[in-house]
Amino acid sequence: MFFRDKRTLKICRIYTMLKTHARQKHLSFHTPGHKIGKWDITELSFSDNLSSPRGCIAQAEKEVAQILGAYKSFLLTDGSTCGVLSMLHAAKTLGVKSVAFPETAHKSVWNGCALLGLTPFPFSVEHEGGIPKPTVLKNVENVLLAADAILLTSPDYYGNIPDLFSFRKFCDDTKKLLLIDGAHGGHLHFDKAIYAGAFADLWVDGVHKSLPALTQGAVVSAKDEKGAAALQKGVDIFRSTSPSYPILASVEYAVKAPQGKTALYARALAEKYPQRMVLQKDFTKLCVRFGLHAFSAEKDLEKQGVYPEFCDGNILMFYLSCKTKKRALVRLENALLKLFKKYPLESVEQIHAPVVLPKTTQTEWVNISDCEGKISAQNFGLFPPCVPLVKRGEQITKESLALLQKADNVFGVYEEKLLIFKGEEV
Ligand SMILES: Cc1ncc(COP(=O)(O)O)c(C=O)c1O
Repeated sequence: MFFRDKRTLKICRIYTMLKTHARQKHLSFHTPGHKIGKWDITELSFSDNLSSPRGCIAQAEKEVAQILGAYKSFLLTDGSTCGVLSMLHAAKTLGVKSVAFPETAHKSVWNGCALLGLTPFPFSVEHEGGIPKPTVLKNVENVLLAADAILLTSPDYYGNIPDLFSFRKFCDDTKKLLLIDGAHGGHLHFDKAIYAGAFADLWVDGVHKSLPALTQGAVVSAKDEKGAAALQKGVDIFRSTSPSYPILASVEYAVKAPQGKTALYARALAEKYPQRMVLQKDFTKLCVRFGLHAFSAEKDLEKQGVYPEFCDGNILMFYLSCKTKKRALVRLENALLKLFKKYPLESVEQIHAPVVLPKTTQTEWVNISDCEGKISAQNFGLFPPCVPLVKRGEQITKESLALLQKADNVFGVYEEKLLIFKGEEV
């Protein structure tokens, strides 16, 4: 049972429509093929229509927009990926031709630029102890000035939030659009000092990651009427024409749900272990340092039934939400204490992938084990965090291959092969 808070359910339009209908007789001669005809339904006379809403979905979108501080919000059942693509499409509609973004941006940002013909201006991200640091405006100003729009990831997968005030001011002064990928920040609407929607022109809230929505639930929003009209075109292209009603209902529920006390418990826990635990401004990403032993520690935890969000070969990240109970954190602490003793901290070197300009455009798929020294023809990395470990045009080093081979889940790898520029080797 995902939806528990009765007070919140009472103010949820889509849930109320589904519940009311579920009590009635229903003989299904429509999709979906399971023919149950309740809860997981399609667009019918009473269930409204996400593409052109007039009923309960329109009302839900309006109320979600009010909570998020948007002129208009669009509910999504296709993840933040759809939100990022729609937002980039909207930026293009508004005249943007180039976008500056952190090199650690999610693959949807890289893919969106490639798909829409937007010139990417990635800027580098500093690390400390193997963990990315929040972007500081003055360090990347030159790159930002060259682009028409700026896309920030806020928070990132490690809980970093840049100084959004300074980026907003920069965009006002230079008349650039500010886009924010808040795939990890849906819960921050409770704190307008660090919430994407308080600063961005267009932004995405990944409701399923840090709020209690079903997987793939997200929202994309615009601050003003012009942005909303552009975004409408974007979502019309990238959204599914068969949205899942349970996901839609869960998105509305998650945005309207109360915050809970997890932040207090998480801060208290992290403060006890300053050498090992890092909790940035965003309380939902508890990063625990294991250095060289990170993958072994992850396996040990899994044997006890404890699953982190990801291991990046240095830290384990434990994703929290308002639904993370104090007792779950106590269990986590006990499990980690044993592993801190077993695995003393040995730091890892930051992996560096040198950039090499390929002389050819011809590419080929090559077995991972034969890729050392070759030049990558597409981004690849660990999944999650789904940020490139090696980007197109960078050299594939022994260290990056070792990390790739240790990880359980990766992206940019097909049948254990990587796409490389043919004949190019360093
Ligand atoms: C920063 C960021 N943006 C966008 C996405 C895409 O989100 P989704 O998986 O909901 O499509 C992710 C996914 O991990 C992400 O980390």
